[in-house]
Amino acid sequence: MTTETRPPHPPTTTSRQPAWEHHDVLDLDDFSVAEIETVLNLADRMREILDRRIARVPALRGYTVVNLFFEPSTRTRASFELAGKVLGADVLSLTANTSSVVKGESLIDTVRTLRAMRTDAIVMRHSMGGAPYLAAAHTDASIINAGDGAHAHPTQALLDLYTMRSHFGDLHGKRVVMVGDISHSRVARSDMWGLAAMGAEVVLCGPPTLLPRGLRASDRPAHAESALPAVTIETNIDHAIEGADVVMALRLQSERQQGGLLPSLHEYARLYQVTEERLAKAHPGYLLMHPGPKNEGTEIATDVASGDNSTIEEQVTNGVAVRMALLYLLSGRTEAPGEPSSEVRA
Ligand code: NCD
Repeated sequence: MTTETRPPHPPTTTSRQPAWEHHDVLDLDDFSVAEIETVLNLADRMREILDRRIARVPALRGYTVVNLFFEPSTRTRASFELAGKVLGADVLSLTANTSSVVKGESLIDTVRTLRAMRTDAIVMRHSMGGAPYLAAAHTDASIINAGDGAHAHPTQALLDLYTMRSHFGDLHGKRVVMVGDISHSRVARSDMWGLAAMGAEVVLCGPPTLLPRGLRASDRPAHAESALPAVTIETNIDHAIEGADVVMALRLQSERQQGGLLPSLHEYARLYQVTEERLAKAHPGYLLMHPGPKNEGTEIATDVASGDNSTIEEQVTNGVAVRMALLYLLSGRTEAPGEPSSEVRA
């Protein structure tokens, strides 16, 4: 077995990509504001390519992306696949139950096998927090974390930031309220890092049993301030939503919950469902967001999910553009994607 050495970071400074220092995308806690802006600005360009009548450019021709999903996914997996294809990359998708993982192959061997086939980037979703970090330590392919346990989901956070920025421009001082099962949500955690970096005010709202330990005022450890971005905790949804610019509903992640956290689903919906009536207290022009998959009637009312302020479908479209931007940045390519000279013509 050979020992792989990680290559230097791809070239980072061109006029279009002013800041980029990543070989992998594992979480947003190590992203500078400038790097987040690099991704969001490039996503604007990618959104324009995606909206073309024929959305295909050869910018990533010869670049190979493998989706390696050990957990269910609809939008994240499909959007990475489409993002790669729009840019002309070769993309293949593996799920744990159709790969040699069922024969007992380890994560490290799986990742090394894919790299031996000259895979450039591996998009990974795993039920264990930290799994993508382990993979990144054992391959020189770029690893993109598409969700690891309850830990992180950086590409969802970037598409959420992109969606908010496309409505508000600047996120400074915007009140972003996340409601629901915060303690099991990797989306909430990565969103917190991104939102804090962009200067937004973050409010986390849910029943005390679904707020992460260490974030409840009563048991916050002394080091909590430095270990996590500054957030406000609110267990009363009406107080939380008051003056909100963004309300993000989060699914109850029952696959990660141990029992006994909620008296009943009915009780949870009564106290924490995001409804029209509750949203009346939000700031005019508020955005209603949800990363999906949503359980209408539990964390979100059906009418608001498809109402005028909902960005749920827009988030899905933006997810493709943001993932196009990330794949392109990780490839280290510097030619402007989608310039007329490199376009595939109709
Ligand atoms: C989220 C996930 O998988 O973490 N969904 C997503 O990627 N869009 C949220 C969830 O599963 O509830």
